[in-house]
Amino acid sequence: MTTNPAKRQMTLGMHLGTGYGSQANAWRAPGVNPSAYADIEAQVRYARAAERGTLDFLFLPDNLAITPSMGGGIPQATMDPVVTIAALARATSRIGFVATGTTTFNEPYNIARQYKALDVITHGRFGWNAVTTADPAAAANFGQTIAERPVRYGRAHEVIQTVQALWGSWGEDAWTRDKATGRFVDMDRVRPVNLRGEHVASQGPLPIPPSEQGQPVIFSAGGGEYGLTIAGRYASGVIGAAFTIEDARAQRDAVRRAARQYGRNPEEVKFFAGLMPLIGATVEDALARRRQLDEVSAPQRVPYLGAMLGLALEPEQIDRPLTAGELADARPSGFDPRSQHALSVAREGWTIRDILAHGIIDYHPTPVGPPSVVADHMQEWFEAGACDGFWISPDVNQDGIDTFVDEVVPILRERGLFHDGYRGTTLREHLGVPPQYGLDPRVMRDAQ
Ligand SMILES: Cc1cc2nc3c(=O)[nH]c(=O)nc-3n(C[C@H](O)[C@H](O)[C@H](O)COP(=O)(O)O)c2cc1C
Repeated sequence: MTTNPAKRQMTLGMHLGTGYGSQANAWRAPGVNPSAYADIEAQVRYARAAERGTLDFLFLPDNLAITPSMGGGIPQATMDPVVTIAALARATSRIGFVATGTTTFNEPYNIARQYKALDVITHGRFGWNAVTTADPAAAANFGQTIAERPVRYGRAHEVIQTVQALWGSWGEDAWTRDKATGRFVDMDRVRPVNLRGEHVASQGPLPIPPSEQGQPVIFSAGGGEYGLTIAGRYASGVIGAAFTIEDARAQRDAVRRAARQYGRNPEEVKFFAGLMPLIGATVEDALARRRQLDEVSAPQRVPYLGAMLGLALEPEQIDRPLTAGELADARPSGFDPRSQHALSVAREGWTIRDILAHGIIDYHPTPVGPPSVVADHMQEWFEAGACDGFWISPDVNQDGIDTFVDEVVPILRERGLFHDGYRGTTLREHLGVPPQYGLDPRVMRDAQ
């Protein structure tokens, strides 16, 4: 055992997604129950597997519509993250939960109530990934269209501030429950919020006591100038997406700078890089797993690989490698940050099918091979200061979560990169971020 307790250790989240896994065909994979989307027992099994690996949180994305262009009608999230977490909370005791919820198509009182109730019933294990939603199909489900960023983010600031004010409105020690005097709550310590902005308003108070961690942790996803104002002011965790160490480090630095700008300590904001491991006993086993999963859809992706490399490639060419002439002519596209990596894989001489099987069009980096290859990737990124941890998207949850927990986690522990047991009982303790109740006074000093 080489564990060094003083060493900085990574924080890990497991992406639950739709429940099937990150690959569009995960629901069709061998051994997968195609009904798992509607089977809470399957989700419970996955949550328990992640908890067995002492992962810090489960990440539940959300999408308020079916997006037809993505995966032929496969939903992009669980049936409902809040309801799912309420069920998973009863089947687990330590793992945290981070649920995505939109600031655009919710009222702050609804969010404040549901999320604080979840934080109380999970005993302080809940976090809210506050997103602004850019999907027109989601807007249509509320009879609306997607507004420009200044409007969506203006509303997001108001919603988050109102939600946090509501969370703090039932004072931390207000719940007296004194049977002798008949005083259930000390109303002197329960205060309305009386907030009115341009987009939302709420009178308060919210009649829910604090949880073991006070109130839910805020996460955000998505960068850019607007996203950074959310991350910098409120987030304790940022769900990131980057394909290179340099890009991840730049994103993490930007988040930390934003936190400092709003008077916070950058150590309070943890940046999570995405990871889509493709694990097998050998590289060939891992590729075989992906080839089987993508058997039907791979040929359709050949022209896109061509576009990434500046070459005209056809589906029927899928079982041959690129020729020396094609490799010489290839120019990685500046529009897709994955193109350089695709070219590097192509240069190794793989067939087009195997180039694709390397996950070169996945949404996050895909280390391919035995568990040590995944651990090496994580160690390299973490030690390079590219992230504070990872959110992991297994290709197929049915066996992918177990494989990560049983085969990658022990390597990380052996290298002293990941904790052996939970560091606490609340999500804040898992993340190593400070307590907060109500609005953060440091942020409110100069907030709009
Ligand atoms: C890694 C990552 C995960 C995200 N997850 C979700 C999600 O689950 N649901 C959602 O509505 N938006 C999600 N977003 C979208 C962002 O919140 C943001 O709305 C999007 O990047 C569009 O940018 P814009 O709001 O600046 O137009 C995610 C973004 C990133 C980078």
